[in-house]
Amino acid sequence: MITLISAMGQNNEIGVDNKLLWDLPTDMKHFRTRTQKKTVVMGRKTFESIGMALPNRKNIILTRDKNYDISNFKNTFLAHSVQEILDMHEKEIQKNPEYEIMIIGGSTIYESFVESATNLSLTFVDANFLEADSFFPKINFTQFTEILCTNIKKDKKNIFDMKICEFKKIENIA
Ligand SMILES: NC(=O)c1ccc[n+]([C@@H]2O[C@H](COP(=O)([O-])OP(=O)(O)OC[C@H]3O[C@@H](n4cnc5c(N)ncnc54)[C@H](OP(=O)(O)O)[C@@H]3O)[C@@H](O)[C@H]2O)c1
Repeated sequence: MITLISAMGQNNEIGVDNKLLWDLPTDMKHFRTRTQKKTVVMGRKTFESIGMALPNRKNIILTRDKNYDISNFKNTFLAHSVQEILDMHEKEIQKNPEYEIMIIGGSTIYESFVESATNLSLTFVDANFLEADSFFPKINFTQFTEILCTNIKKDKKNIFDMKICEFKKIENIA
């Protein structure tokens, strides 16, 4: 499985100035749970924005810089092309058909994997963010079926309503 996991505003906004647009602990918890013990793939800018390797996950950083220094980070590896990731995924699913790789952003990385995605784990934040400069690509939802959607009401810690949904590509439904 190749899963794109993202949180976006009403206009597909995902970030500004290499940061997130919100602080939503419920979505963060979902992200942590959903990616736990998996391989996460991210762009170099998102990696720098997070500022650390995500614990309990294999971190793969996409960069064209062959000398990019990750020596200070545990469980972190470099990849230099989308094909490298697709080949690795192909190899892993031969060994374990349930193998799931999580594509965690940002914008350029989602764009590069959107055609290969078998699953989507999307948080729809019920607000818009005019300042945004990074966006999730447009998805043709007719190719996907909704597996599960949970509505979450805003509260003291999460200042926007949101909906967390899992989708599966139709050709991948048994
Ligand atoms: N809301 C969310 O769910 C979410 C999730 C993640 C990120 N974000 C936000 O997204 C924004 C960052 O997105 P972004 O698009 O600017 O940056 P990005 O996708 O995180 O990183 C872009 C970098 O990835 C590398 N790269 C991209 N395509 C590649 C390829 N085909 N082969 C090799 N390397 C490749 C390049 O690194 P080099 O320049 O080193 O070659 C490129 O500069 C931030 O605002 C972040 O907070 C939001």
